[in-house]
Amino acid sequence: MRLSIIGSGYVGLVSGAGLSEVGHHVLCMDIDAGRIERLQQGIVPIFEPGLETMLLENAAQGRLQFSDSIAEAVNHAQVIFIAVGTPPDEDGSADLRHVLAVAEALGQHLGQPALIVVKSTVPVGTCEKVQEAANRALQTRGKDFEVTVASNPEFLKEGAAISDFMKPDRIVIGTDSEEAETLLRELYAPFNRNHEKLLCMDVRSSELTKYAANTMLATKISLMNELSNLAERVGADIEQVRIGMGSDPRIGYSFIYPGVGYGGSCFPKDVRALEHTARQFGYEAELLKAVEAVNNRQKAKAFEILDRHFGGDLSGLKIAVWGLAFKPNTDDMREAPSLNLIDALLAEGASVCAHDPEAMEEAAKLYPGDSGLSLVDDPYTATEGADALVLMTEWKLYWAPDFDRLQQQMPLPVIVDGRNIWSPAIVRRHGITYFAIGRP
Ligand SMILES: NC(=O)c1ccc[n+]([C@@H]2O[C@H](COP(=O)([O-])OP(=O)(O)OC[C@H]3O[C@@H](n4cnc5c(N)ncnc54)[C@H](O)[C@@H]3O)[C@@H](O)[C@H]2O)c1
Repeated sequence: MRLSIIGSGYVGLVSGAGLSEVGHHVLCMDIDAGRIERLQQGIVPIFEPGLETMLLENAAQGRLQFSDSIAEAVNHAQVIFIAVGTPPDEDGSADLRHVLAVAEALGQHLGQPALIVVKSTVPVGTCEKVQEAANRALQTRGKDFEVTVASNPEFLKEGAAISDFMKPDRIVIGTDSEEAETLLRELYAPFNRNHEKLLCMDVRSSELTKYAANTMLATKISLMNELSNLAERVGADIEQVRIGMGSDPRIGYSFIYPGVGYGGSCFPKDVRALEHTARQFGYEAELLKAVEAVNNRQKAKAFEILDRHFGGDLSGLKIAVWGLAFKPNTDDMREAPSLNLIDALLAEGASVCAHDPEAMEEAAKLYPGDSGLSLVDDPYTATEGADALVLMTEWKLYWAPDFDRLQQQMPLPVIVDGRNIWSPAIVRRHGITYFAIGRP
């Protein structure tokens, strides 16, 4: 099939790679001409394991191309995916500007009927708005056909996006059109060989499913963080509690890790957007408000531990930070808890020296040279002479550090383990003062 994907970010590029890998002819389009130029030269703008190889191989085999022209994207395809960003607006709602701009642009360029598929995470009712915007533009041009719009939310996880896309748990399709369902069934058939993964439903349920899934996961994390704060106060160890909870199959072990809060481009904005949708429909979603409030409080946790330990005065201290990305295996720093920590430390007059295997280019864009944050290529350069080390992202290379070396490098060694990856007993045996989340 000939497909176009509008928006070549994390979702657009992974989808483009995956769909071309199974034989479709895909055009990835983006409004950012510089990004497209780099992609055409074989430079992939984001870090995602396995993405670069898959993109370059499919491009070399002629199944994948990149363009900054919407007209070209429209001419290329019978199915057009929208995968542009839906960032949070000031009031917490999803900003649909990009999605609706694409809808209008499609209406301005389409010469024949097409299926538009909304892959961006969008509030309930957006697919209807996309259809209206595109059809309005078609009408203005005097065209006598209309577009069909289907919902197809994306469930990939950054860091494991390629395998999620190639082996999805489920493929959700929201449409009332039999024709659209048939076309999308055919398009996704290569991903559906092992067992039936396609879930077809009405458009609004499909749109809500994506938010429901993300808010469920965010709720699990916030509940665990709430319990970890309680564990600290009652003298319990949240890691023991976690194991005791997870052994119940109704609860399970996944997504119940306490830590310094969730970040990223999805959970924070999607929880807020769903809360906003609820309000628009006259319903106060109390649980969602609490999920967000707990997370915001938790993002300040590492700073509070340091502040308490150093008696409320962090000025002049050097703090080492390991991990900047919002989670391992990505360079994405959107709403990362590391940002809250770094901002708070710099505001208190501390200097910060940080390391991350992939996100330092992103960090350098956010913190220019004179901001007080220095970025170093080796984790142990960050800890040299530091007053404390804070672990913010649990990249595998941090799991078994040389604690002897850390002990020698820091005059009065202190570690804050924001992801509970180290054993308190082992770290303390090295003469290091150790703080974790919800652990004695
Ligand atoms: N990142 C994830 O893990 C993930 C997972 C599932 C769903 N989603 C959702 O998918 C959507 C995209 O997310 P992302 O992380 O890929 O975003 P992103 O910011 O990485 O990429 C969006 C791209 O869209 C481009 N764009 C903006 N306006 C455009 C226009 N008018 N025409 C063409 N291109 C345009 C931008 O230049 C950018 O490159 C969002 O709604 C997000 O919530 C993201």
